[in-house]
Amino acid sequence: MSYPFQIKSFDEYQAAYKRSVDDPEGFWGDVASSFYWRKKWDKVLEWNFKEPNIKWFQGGRLNITENCLDRHLETSGNKPAIIWEPNDPEDRHRVLTYRELYNKVVQFANVLKNNGVKKGDRVCIYMGMVPELAIAVLACARLGAIHSVIFGGFSAQSIADRLQDAQAEYIVTSDGAFRGNKDVPLKSVIDDALVQCHFVKRVIVLTRTRTPVSMIKGRDVWWEDEVKFVETMGNPDCPAEEMDAEDPLFILYTSGSTGKPKGVVHTVGGYMVYTTYSFVNVFQYNPGDIHFCTADIGWITGHSYIVYAPLCAGATSLIFEGIPTWPDAGRFWKIVDKYRVNILYTAPTAIRSLMGFGLGPVQQADLSSLKVLGSVGEPINEEAWHWFDDNIGKNRCPIVDTWWQTENGGILISNLAGVTKAKPGWATLPLPGIQPVLMDENGKEIEGPNVGGNLCVKFPWPGMLRTTYGDHERMRTNYFATYDDMYFTGDGSYRDEDGNYRITGRVDDVLNVSGHRIGTAEVENAINMHAGVVESAVVGYPHEVKGQGIYAYVVYTSAHGDESLTRKDIAQTVARIIGPIAKPDKIQFVSGLPKTRSGKIMRRILRKIAEGELDNVGDISTLLDPQVVDEIKRGRLA
Ligand code: WTA
Repeated sequence: MSYPFQIKSFDEYQAAYKRSVDDPEGFWGDVASSFYWRKKWDKVLEWNFKEPNIKWFQGGRLNITENCLDRHLETSGNKPAIIWEPNDPEDRHRVLTYRELYNKVVQFANVLKNNGVKKGDRVCIYMGMVPELAIAVLACARLGAIHSVIFGGFSAQSIADRLQDAQAEYIVTSDGAFRGNKDVPLKSVIDDALVQCHFVKRVIVLTRTRTPVSMIKGRDVWWEDEVKFVETMGNPDCPAEEMDAEDPLFILYTSGSTGKPKGVVHTVGGYMVYTTYSFVNVFQYNPGDIHFCTADIGWITGHSYIVYAPLCAGATSLIFEGIPTWPDAGRFWKIVDKYRVNILYTAPTAIRSLMGFGLGPVQQADLSSLKVLGSVGEPINEEAWHWFDDNIGKNRCPIVDTWWQTENGGILISNLAGVTKAKPGWATLPLPGIQPVLMDENGKEIEGPNVGGNLCVKFPWPGMLRTTYGDHERMRTNYFATYDDMYFTGDGSYRDEDGNYRITGRVDDVLNVSGHRIGTAEVENAINMHAGVVESAVVGYPHEVKGQGIYAYVVYTSAHGDESLTRKDIAQTVARIIGPIAKPDKIQFVSGLPKTRSGKIMRRILRKIAEGELDNVGDISTLLDPQVVDEIKRGRLA
């Protein structure tokens, strides 16, 4: 496969960027032309950010799996599509060629069909990192069913909330998942979630860990039995459902500053075009390269850069079931060595945690196959950047610092490996088609070099979200109401004299803990559900490995046993309500929270105290009870 839209030099980047601004429809129309459409679109773009209403490639008809699978069969049927490395390095790895993956997707699509799944139905997928997860995702897309993958670390309550919001009647899961030396009982979590969700008609359960699970007659079926059953039916084909470019492809829930997580909706055509375009350009993917993205498919990075974009590009994508530190901290490096990985795309939090183990584990592996390194999920600090560059890339692999969000579908700001310049700590330049602007608090654009502000994007791109599931108004108020005619990212950023962007992190009440987005309001709601808690306030603080840690101030009434046990109980409640990833790192009991006379919690003060800047909490004269600040300072947990 060749990629006619691959940018090869800085001049080409500049030319592509200019054209994407001057003639966006011509630009994206050309990119889209190299995909397979059953029917070409009538109109490339129609949009306004007021409603908002965003439509790309209207009238175009396609199925994304024909682009991921069918069109590669003739030329690359025997090429590896997926390499799977199991949790236990002693176990057998698997390689699925494009032909084999196609067969399995078609087969599982037939299983879904047999179980009643139709175009437009929502299918929740809750699995570990096994090839069957990618197969389930693609099988949904083949039928035009809308998948909603939920990360394996979320609790039963979180799953129930999402099932309800999406009204998902079908679930695909597995008995359990191996993660390091743990066996996570996925089906049993699903069972707990389903106590509240009687509308779920079918649960398809893959065997992975062979943990005992309950199987409810009439509702739960085994993946393997269903596959055998469709095999006996004979016809191994499953024609792809013809979709409109703007039909939904998937829902992915993500946290915001208010309320429950929202279901970000991506559509078939634009998402396919944008993620593939960004993949081929940012990583400079060339046919034959082995791409290893260490994210989980439960997050957007896994959707876009493990499954959809690599497969659309005919690439080889490596799926790793386990964790970077098991059986030892050399696991990533051994995988790179074992499969001669060329592109390694990971997160700053993983790099920082592996740095802590020293160079021993790195030196045991041959990393000479690496060509490109990538970072995503949070700002990368310079120390981690240089460690990655010196010890993993051996100063010969470009590092791409890729900034983007669940809502964006694909990477928006990043250097292009070896084509545009890297700058440690900077995401650098916008991809063609992306028009970033910096805004001040008063809604005015901040122009020129060497300035900072709130990061917005003023023109649509094909991979952007189209709605928030079931509540379009929420999409408007969340992203399009802060600034007129702008998509507001929620991030702050600087811009230098060369037009490079350096993302500084969230300016709203969203935390980024080990690259996971968590809303402070969500954590507070969970803490407040704990018996004895009157109220709470949650802020982030700098954490050496996680990037941000969660600091909770809790007003607690009943003196139930000792404080350290109560802290653990509260953390347990949070794990139950949201999932272990949202457990507070520190819980400080306070007699009251700093509030203004109108009752608003002054988080700025709490943030400063959590950060240890006790002399720098700013003006506290507007507080109802300024004395509480001294008490909180005294009780601060170091
Ligand atoms: C942050 C992950 C700095 C940012 C793809 C954003 C980053 C949020 C970077 C989205 C980066 C992601 N540099 N910050 N390279 N990448 N972020 O939705 O705050 O899980 O708003 O998408 O992560 O997180 P999400």
